[in-house]
Amino acid sequence: MHNTRDQAAPTGTNAAAEPRDAEQDLATVSSLPLMQLSIGFWSFKALASAEELDLFARLSGTDGQTVDELAELLGFELRPVELLVTACASIGLLESRDGRYVNSALAEEYLVPDKQYNFGGWVRMLDRRLYPAWGRLTEAVRTNRPTSWNPDEQAHLFDSEDPELLALFWEAMHSLSTLTARELGVHVDLSDSTALLDIGGGSGAYDIELCRRYPNLRATVFDLPPVCEIAATKVVAAGSQDRIAVSPGDFLADPELPAGYDVMLLSMIMHDWTPEQDLAILRKCFAALPPGGRIVISELLVNDDKTGPPAAALMSLNMLVEAAGRNYTAAEYERWLHATGFVDVQMVSFEAPGANGAVLARKP
Ligand SMILES: C[S@@+](CC[C@H](N)C(=O)[O-])C[C@H]1O[C@@H](n2cnc3c(N)ncnc32)[C@H](O)[C@@H]1O
Repeated sequence: MHNTRDQAAPTGTNAAAEPRDAEQDLATVSSLPLMQLSIGFWSFKALASAEELDLFARLSGTDGQTVDELAELLGFELRPVELLVTACASIGLLESRDGRYVNSALAEEYLVPDKQYNFGGWVRMLDRRLYPAWGRLTEAVRTNRPTSWNPDEQAHLFDSEDPELLALFWEAMHSLSTLTARELGVHVDLSDSTALLDIGGGSGAYDIELCRRYPNLRATVFDLPPVCEIAATKVVAAGSQDRIAVSPGDFLADPELPAGYDVMLLSMIMHDWTPEQDLAILRKCFAALPPGGRIVISELLVNDDKTGPPAAALMSLNMLVEAAGRNYTAAEYERWLHATGFVDVQMVSFEAPGANGAVLARKP
């Protein structure tokens, strides 16, 4: 077979003028990553539909189901069920054993409701709230206005008592943050801390996980009043009400934060707000901490050269459709912490769904 790629171009000829052939074209950059990027939302929607139809719950603890059995169970026609389970198997959510579909280890551990580290709340929130909002991403880029809520009717993302939002948003945060808190607890040593104030603590996911890991720790969820009610329910469900309290308040409007804590946690708070608002929050933390008190900022941190990593950069873009802030870099946090008076600024890296690291500092 004639292989032009193996033949050196004759000296003295103008290689650029040679006609290109099909094999030379194949040697250029592959287009396949673009196909993968383009169909990213197909994978997400397959996951979200399977989750919405309780597919993973139905398959959990069974010997698996054939497509016919699943179609009968769901009450749908054979064709759509076959296509959905095939797609789910192709992206690692299901496995086929002798023609019977079972949950993959990933789906069994994280997509079956009522399991401790269930991720379903996050999937549902993305599907129902963020997927439509991201459908208007170009509008958000053009206008610098959020698309997941109406800025003509609300002052900010959290300025709403819409019960659907309450249920969906904090259930999602609970899914994401339970897993993230588990990793943070491994990488950030809180064994010397006794009292943690979780500022904007949401559902209390961090407090529940961290108190489980550190037996000497007590925690308080500081959040807006309706959110404290959600946290209180989660804390009772986890059986942690003797160690975790709630404290309703407003970290923007209140002149000071509650005192009496030796560590303050800010998880996924700073990325919601502008640098000016974040500096004001840090100043309140500094004022309320005792000398030696610590601050822990847990976030998906963007690289200093602002090229990634993807989860942090895309979460930052998500702030365009959701909030006033963006995901900041470790260097930005270091600068703000020093400007506020904190010392011993350290960066701890780890991998979790809701954070790739934490920035720590101490009040002198
Ligand atoms: C993105 S969520 C993070 C929740 C939690 N820290 C976590 O990581 O799971 C932001 C939280 O900040 C809270 N929040 C927003 N504005 C607040 C304010 N002005 N005062 C107190 N909490 C506030 C919200 O209610 C929400 O629970």
